[in-house]
Amino acid sequence: MTEAQPVLLERRGHVAALTLNRPESRNALSVAMMRQLREILQELRDDASVWLVTLTGAGGKAFCAGADLKERRTMPEQQVPEVLALIRGLMDDIAALPQPSLAILNGHAFGGGCEMALACDLRVLASEAMMGLTETSLGIIPGAGGCVRLPRLLGLAKAKELILLAKRLSAAEALQVGLVHEVCQGTEIDALGQAYIDALLRNGPLALRAAKRAMEGSWDLPAADALRFETECYMQIIPTQDRLEALAAFAEKRAPVFKGC
Ligand code: COA
Repeated sequence: MTEAQPVLLERRGHVAALTLNRPESRNALSVAMMRQLREILQELRDDASVWLVTLTGAGGKAFCAGADLKERRTMPEQQVPEVLALIRGLMDDIAALPQPSLAILNGHAFGGGCEMALACDLRVLASEAMMGLTETSLGIIPGAGGCVRLPRLLGLAKAKELILLAKRLSAAEALQVGLVHEVCQGTEIDALGQAYIDALLRNGPLALRAAKRAMEGSWDLPAADALRFETECYMQIIPTQDRLEALAAFAEKRAPVFKGC
């Protein structure tokens, strides 16, 4: 049953593929979906065999239409802060994943759906889809990290334009402003997502984790502290077998076979 399984998790080798599975509601974020997602993310975060996490939407029309507005309408005002904490916590959990995360945006991403994409490390988008932080048009604000992550990603001026005007960007516009890395036709989005997955899996999984940590943990530090933090992240990689394997593979003119240890 769809409502019993609002999120699907498929493990494909070292990849954990998550699918938001409420297509009849355009994969809107219900409380049940957010709770299930947070449980899954907690499991994945601690799983060394998971090298990469991907997120996509079922049904092809929307990646995620944001907060479940029908559910929200039935909610007493006192419950809203609790749900806000849940959605904020969810986006923070995604951003805090130690593994790289890839949003395969096979349909529209609005409101919380766009915030979810922003919390991922990488984003690819179907050309028919639109994106935007549309909350102000609904009398609320992006409250799951959107007001923080969008300015950091695109700069304050562009973020103000998009959030204050509640702009719905076409895929071409999303690409142009740098909200996504690549756009392709909807029929090709799984293949494009797979190309990103393959490229990521060619790199050392521990190196990917360390590089993500080095960037996330350093970028708002003063330069000297940031550089020290980068070195700390590098130090974790030095004793790994994967580093030695890559050096051997280079000498032997072959591709390295990483094991994540
Ligand atoms: N919450 C709850 N239900 C939603 C929803 C949301 N955020 N977005 C869409 N739905 C529901 C619709 O109410 C509709 O349900 P119904 O069949 O019972 O009427 C169903 O999903 C299909 O929606 P529809 O608008 O007909 O689909 P579409 O493919 O033409 O358009 C969107 C998809 C995403 C462009 C459009 O639904 C939309 O703009 N949604 C709101 C997006 C938004 O502003 N989110 C910000 C939330 S803070």
